[in-house]
Amino acid sequence: MMTEEIKIIGVVGGGQMGSGIALLAAARGIDVWLHDTDPNALTRSRKYVSGFVQTLVSKGHLSQDAGSDALVHLHCTSNLEDLHSSDVIIEAIVESEDVKRKLFSELDKIAKASCILASNTSSISITRLASATNRPQQVIGMHFMNPPPIMRLVEIVRGADTSDASFSATKSLAERFGKTVICSQDYPGFIVNRILMPMINEAFYTLYTGVASKEDIDTGMKLGTNHPMGPLELADFIGLDVCLSIMKILHGGLGDGRYAPCPLLVQYVDAGRLGRKRGIGVYNYRKTVKETSL
Ligand code: NAI
Repeated sequence: MMTEEIKIIGVVGGGQMGSGIALLAAARGIDVWLHDTDPNALTRSRKYVSGFVQTLVSKGHLSQDAGSDALVHLHCTSNLEDLHSSDVIIEAIVESEDVKRKLFSELDKIAKASCILASNTSSISITRLASATNRPQQVIGMHFMNPPPIMRLVEIVRGADTSDASFSATKSLAERFGKTVICSQDYPGFIVNRILMPMINEAFYTLYTGVASKEDIDTGMKLGTNHPMGPLELADFIGLDVCLSIMKILHGGLGDGRYAPCPLLVQYVDAGRLGRKRGIGVYNYRKTVKETSL
């Protein structure tokens, strides 16, 4: 399928990633059917898209007409079957292999035969998701970075059976969204998380073993290596639970002790210190609450 033929996109999961992906497509005049099992997520998602479009219009990045048009192209639905005419469906639901496999099996039944099923997973094997369908050649990883409207990269992951045609169509779509594409084979962590997560884990070990304070670790990496964020503040931004789950996948999948999650990272997650989304992670974002000393 050529990208010009992609007129309708389905997005499953209207959280932070799915909403951003839906916005990218709607702003380019592509009809988007966004499905979430949680109606509140759909309401939040429409609000997010509408707010972002307004910002783009007010900054002159989008004309008023194109802005209004984008909102017309976004259809929110709590019925998965409404995605049946999609040319491509991008899944961005919870990072659980069991839940995603169940969804892929349902999508396989609902979607038209030519539809490509893409997953935005950060770490789950595309080959295993593909094996829940009868179209493994049309299953592919389309890994956007957070937030999708801003970050310039899409990492495309080829499962064991992904066809060249599915790869080309997905790559062209990502480029139509204005993204630069990199291609990874289907091994734990793909490219970006394979390199990023061990660095974050090592930053936790550096803190855990008392080598330096969190501020000095982050300042060291920001000013010493020109990273825009230090690894610990980046971990808070991503979510410590997400970082831990990816480290477990690297450790299990690559079978090397150097990927073992740092005990301090595990302890923070156990304590509910999940990062910015909970108001506390490595850093305390609740200005009024006294920082605890885990
Ligand atoms: P999120 O928690 O913000 O959103 C997930 C949404 O999926 C929720 O609205 C939930 O109601 C919905 N959902 C859960 N199960 C569902 C189902 N069976 N059917 C329909 N909707 C369902 O999660 P987020 O952060 O948007 O992540 C989504 C995916 O994107 C995950 O696979 C994650 O690993 C991946 N990802 C996340 C990044 C991040 O920085 N948050 C970056 C890149 C990828």
